[in-house]
Amino acid sequence: MSGKITFTMIKPDAVADGHIGAILGKISEAGFKIKALKLTQLTVADAKKFYEVHSERPFYGELVDFMSSGPIVAAVLEKDNAVEDFRTTIGATNPAEAAEGTIRKLFARSIGENAVHGSDSDENALIEAQFHFSGREIF
Ligand code: CMP
Repeated sequence: MSGKITFTMIKPDAVADGHIGAILGKISEAGFKIKALKLTQLTVADAKKFYEVHSERPFYGELVDFMSSGPIVAAVLEKDNAVEDFRTTIGATNPAEAAEGTIRKLFARSIGENAVHGSDSDENALIEAQFHFSGREIF
């Protein structure tokens, strides 16, 4: 699957703001196929583990609290060049800097509450997909 998949979460802000359908529509329009999908909620321990790479950052506590604050949608997406193309589709981490038409520009509230997550490498896409889904949940 390497090179062809990425992992995303529709974050608690976008779920609470009622954007699940619109964001899945944008993902589909951009040419991604959904390989796995679920509405779920991270525990504080889950969020700490998922974002462990950021544990030394000043925003880590805020990030963990926010990501465990409400339901999210987790998904595995397939497309050629999936990681890079999805990062283009979602736009810059800070929505104020995101390109017009990107998911973060359209739906994010702020740099912390930025609507969606996208994997930053093929290796992490696989790790993140396996964090959320068992083999039998990925199609
Ligand atoms: P994400 O792509 O999920 O990966 C790490 C997250 O950390 C990022 O999106 C942002 O939501 C969050 N983040 C990055 N920089 C900041 C910041 N300066 N303040 C708060 N949150 C941040």
